[in-house]
This record gives sequence, C-alpha cells and structure tokens, in this order.
Amino acid sequence: MMRPLNAPVVSWAGKRVWIIGASTGIGAALARALAERGARLALSARSAEALAATVVQGGAAGLEHARLLPCDVTNAGAVTVALDSLVADWGGVDLVLVSAGAYHPMRADALDREVAAHLIDTNLKGPLNVAASAVPQLLRQGGGAIGIIGSVAGYGGLPKAVVYGPTKAAIINLCEAMYFDLHASGIGVYLISPGFVRTPMTAANDFRMPALISPEEAARDIVRGMEAGAFEIHFPRRFTCALKLLRLLPYRLYFAIVRRITGL
Ligand SMILES: NC(=O)c1ccc[n+]([C@@H]2O[C@H](COP(=O)([O-])OP(=O)(O)OC[C@H]3O[C@@H](n4cnc5c(N)ncnc54)[C@H](OP(=O)(O)O)[C@@H]3O)[C@@H](O)[C@H]2O)c1
Repeated sequence: MMRPLNAPVVSWAGKRVWIIGASTGIGAALARALAERGARLALSARSAEALAATVVQGGAAGLEHARLLPCDVTNAGAVTVALDSLVADWGGVDLVLVSAGAYHPMRADALDREVAAHLIDTNLKGPLNVAASAVPQLLRQGGGAIGIIGSVAGYGGLPKAVVYGPTKAAIINLCEAMYFDLHASGIGVYLISPGFVRTPMTAANDFRMPALISPEEAARDIVRGMEAGAFEIHFPRRFTCALKLLRLLPYRLYFAIVRRITGL
C-alpha cells in the first residue's frame, strides 16, 4: 500500500485546532464534528456575535468550551494577535484550518474591481496571512498541520467565476507549494476541495447545483480525509472525480462540455 502524504490523524482527543471561518457553513460544521471527537477548539470569524451563536446553537458536546477569537483574515496583524493569544493559552496549536472565504459570481464582461479586490483579499491574501503567522509557529513546535479550503472552481476556468475561480486556483498552487516546502519538516498540509455544499455562501445561487451536499457531510469527509492522511481532500467524489477527468481533456472538448453542462 502507498504511504499517505500526511501523517494520519489517529485521535482527535485533545488536539488543539484553530478554525478560521467557523461561524457558518463548512467551518461551523467542522467545529461541531471536531468538538464531538474531543478536540480543543478555537474559532474565528469577523463577527463575534455569529461565533457566539455558533457555539450556543451548535448543540455539539464540548463546543461550549471553544475559545472564540474574532478576527479578520485580511488583517495580517489581527491574525498574528489571535495566534499569539492562542499559543500563550494552549502552548501551541496542532491544526490550523482556513475555511474563511467569499464568493461572488462574476463574468469577464462585467468585472467589478472592488468586488474582485474583496474576493482576492479574503480568498488568497487571508490564507497567506494565516500561513505567514502559523507556519513559523508550526516549525518552532516541530509539528502540526495547516489546511486551506479551496474549491473545485480552482480546477479549471468556469463561466461566471472570473475572480472566484482564480483565487481558488491559487489556493491549489499555494497548498502544493507549501507541501513541497514543509513536508520534510514534519508539517502537514491539506488542500480541501469541496464541490457544492449547502451553506449561506451558496444560498443565493440561482442554478441547479449538481451533487449538492450538507455541511455535515462536508465536515465528515474532511475529518475522514485527515484521518486517512490525504493531501487533497475532495468531495463529493462522484462530482470531483468527474471534474478532474474533464480537466484532462483538450480545451476544445473542455470548453464544449462545460458550456453544455452549465448552460452558461
Ligand atoms: N459552499 C460551497 O459550496 C463551497 C464550495 C467550494 C468551496 N467552498 C469554500 O469553503 C469555504 C467555506 O465556505 P462556506 O460555504 O462554509 O461559506 P460561509 O457559510 O459563507 O462561511 C464563511 C465563513 O468565513 C467567515 N469569513 C468570511 N470572511 C472572513 C474574513 N475576512 N475573516 C475571517 N472570517 C471570514 C464567515 O464569517 P464572518 O462573515 O463573520 O467573517 C464565515 O464564518 C470558503 O473558502 C468557500 O470558498 C465552499
């Protein structure tokens, strides 16, 4: 059997996990899933109220003990302050997960600079800010892992994703680069690539989302992927594997099939 690319997570009990983007959607579902498995949690998002509501309404055993660290990933200083306070309290961190993200469908013939800057700041600058703070800490500790939620929208260009898609393609590249640079030092790197997940982010989509799954199913797949020591954790497989195959086709076929499937 081939060796896993990351060290498999054998037990979550007592693992110190910082989830950024944990107030709703996939991040909140992950917080519930990991709380139930006994992890020690710190949860971040911009809104302190939304974070508190996640804990109150979460209903997962142990979630009430989560540390709430409101912070904006686009603010490098705030990310460092949050991490420092966590390390002062916990003595270190075992897993840093970036689920913070922003989505706005946009076509190339209607590019909006402000919205583009917001997407780039949140989806790319944010994870870079987190990596710039967290990786030196993981290296000092001599272990731990970082995971970033990208998207299948980063696999290849898609209609109406002229900014979101490139930010997510950059996350794929960033995680691959980090894996090369950090694996030998014993630091885990996870690239998480969801298909469509029913969250506030996708609530306004006015098209049929194929293979749509719940945030709980997404969280379950992420937890399983980490337990298996995967590098890329992609789900649901029936959708993500088809997209990976599509990406191997010559552009003539890729463009024709995507246009036909999306109708866009
Ligand atoms: N849902 C899908 O179908 C899908 C598919 C593929 C990939 N993804 C990716 O999965 C990740 C999570 O998406 P989701 O669907 O769970 O979205 P969501 O429900 O909208 O959650 C986004 C989370 O990120 C936080 N956030 C947003 N901007 C932030 C910032 N600047 N600093 C700190 N936190 C911030 C939000 O809280 P605040 O607003 O309070 O900050 C919220 O907690 C995103 O990266 C998204 O691109 C989602």
